[in-house]
Amino acid sequence: MCPGSFDPVTNGHLDIINRAAKLYDELFVAVFVNPSKAGLFSLDERMEMLAEVTGHLPNVSVTSFQGLTVDFCRTHGVGIIVKGVRAVSDFDYELQMAQMNYGLEGVETLFMPTNPLYSFLSSSLVKDVAKWGGDIDGHVPAPVAARLVARMGGE
Ligand code: PNS
Repeated sequence: MCPGSFDPVTNGHLDIINRAAKLYDELFVAVFVNPSKAGLFSLDERMEMLAEVTGHLPNVSVTSFQGLTVDFCRTHGVGIIVKGVRAVSDFDYELQMAQMNYGLEGVETLFMPTNPLYSFLSSSLVKDVAKWGGDIDGHVPAPVAARLVARMGGE
């Protein structure tokens, strides 16, 4: 599975999803429902965007989950979590989560180095650029860019 907030999905996420889908017969892209963080897009919107941009991948299912990632893994028979690592700064926290998840449920984590094209990219940064009218084409898929511009009050 590829778990995340996906608020919204970026080209960096999509790169990891595309590559992970080639490695496994089945891939869940699962949006974490975070009760303590509202986010810009609703859960339904995030899932709609993910479904739209992964529609070309027949072995990918878009879903959501509450609670622990490892609980989702257990109930869905998932043995491997795939995470993109953009830079060394990501590694610290990702390593802690991977070790915790392995300790909790024996779930493995595969770290996939992000394409350097996207090493600076994050959903938060894209939202900030969009908020102030900056160009986000090339950072997010076209349908996501359109929704971001609309949400930020653009045309
Ligand atoms: O896109 P994000 O916000 O970096 O994704 C973080 C996410 C959702 C993968 C992480 O917060 C997570 O796994 N949350 C689920 C709750 C959980 O399992 N917490 C313990 C992690 S060791």
